[in-house]
Amino acid sequence: MLKTDNSSPGDGDQVSGHGMWSSKMAFILAATGSAVGLGNIWRFPYVTAENGGGAFVLIYLLCIAVIGIPLLMSEILLGRAGRHSPINSLKLLAQRSKRTWRWMFVGVLGALIGWMILSFYSMVAGWTLAYSWHYLGEIFATAPPAFDPQGKFGGLLASPGALIFWLTAFILLSLGVVALGVEKGLERAVRILMPMLFALLLIMVGYGMSTGFFQQTISYLFSPDFSKVDGNTILQALGQAFFSLSLGMTGIMAYGAYVPRDVPIGRTAATIALADTGVAVLAGMAIFPIVFANGLATGEGPGLIFVTLPYAFADMSYGSFFGFGFFLLLAVAAWTSAISLMEPAVAFLSESKRFTRVSAALVVGAATWVLALGSVFAMNIWSGFTIAGKNFQELLEYVASNLLLPLGGLTTAVFVGWALSRVIAREQLSELSESRYQLWRFLVRYVAPILVFVVFLSAAGVI
Ligand code: TRP
Repeated sequence: MLKTDNSSPGDGDQVSGHGMWSSKMAFILAATGSAVGLGNIWRFPYVTAENGGGAFVLIYLLCIAVIGIPLLMSEILLGRAGRHSPINSLKLLAQRSKRTWRWMFVGVLGALIGWMILSFYSMVAGWTLAYSWHYLGEIFATAPPAFDPQGKFGGLLASPGALIFWLTAFILLSLGVVALGVEKGLERAVRILMPMLFALLLIMVGYGMSTGFFQQTISYLFSPDFSKVDGNTILQALGQAFFSLSLGMTGIMAYGAYVPRDVPIGRTAATIALADTGVAVLAGMAIFPIVFANGLATGEGPGLIFVTLPYAFADMSYGSFFGFGFFLLLAVAAWTSAISLMEPAVAFLSESKRFTRVSAALVVGAATWVLALGSVFAMNIWSGFTIAGKNFQELLEYVASNLLLPLGGLTTAVFVGWALSRVIAREQLSELSESRYQLWRFLVRYVAPILVFVVFLSAAGVI
């Protein structure tokens, strides 16, 4: 998917040591692969449930449209204008714009956030691997499978050995792709397996419709009750929007470095956001009917899909096959996302003389593995150790997703809107009409930074 030559026809830019997406489609696939992952299918339903449904979903959609898409455009354009790892691109672009090189710390922050997120992300991706292994076993089992979703999930969490085994497998898979370069493997995974995941999701929505609780699901997801909304709800919606679109930690910027010059950034960003949001909404429509039909608790937390979906698979004909396919494809979706969480740090390290791409990927993978142990032990031996009612994993997830991602997005928006030379920005967005360009500029200069700031203040209880 990445051409090895350093310049595409008509492209004067030099790419530092890496290739170029072979086409506009290749980039859309890679960026969609990054966006669509556990954030859509695991995180969106459970965070929606914890925040009471409809109003949260509405605020989330608003965040995607008003802040998400403009920032997605910003990250792509910064990557393509800089043509280096995010850290070095930011440094270069700041210097070209006659600003301080210290803007590169936005990139340093991004690489650190990626490390934090990837650690617990790998553990949850490990759960999906464990579940697909379980359903594979069911397919070949001679005796009817025992049915105890809560017990099964609890058993997995209680076993550090099993958690570590699966997360190690997942980290090895991810660093493998990153080490070898994000070439053919990723493109094939996204082009073939993601549509399959989408189709399976549609089947699950169809199953949801057959439960008789679809109506209730639609009103749960889409009829807002604003009495439940406070500053923290809005912060969670904003954090989820960033998480789902892979924004705020320069992952998209890293992919942007490989984008050919003739790709229209505005339309591409809108396509990615649409696909990502579509998958999240479908996941909600698939999961909540099962919750309601079986009288399960919506406030299940991070275990929501791992406890509810087994009810559906146990009830469906060929449920073991569907269960196997679903969790395996979810693991693939997580895989294509994890790669983009690693890429900024790996790209930066491999730009320095001291690392090759392989050794850089190994270093980042090892650091991720160590931090992931914290999340593993938070599920069992350290579960009693909490701060503000959150264990280590919950705290890490909250701080990284809800505080640091929006902070990263805010600083990116300020850089693009206020520090970056206007000539560079306009040139990158040359396909936009003047009025659309002005709208984008207004959104990144004023709307995104002010909204993020106000949401921070209100969640902190200041306003
Ligand atoms: N967006 C992915 C998901 O929804 C996760 C992800 C990939 C991510 N890259 C990211 C989240 C960068 C935050 C920042 O599963």
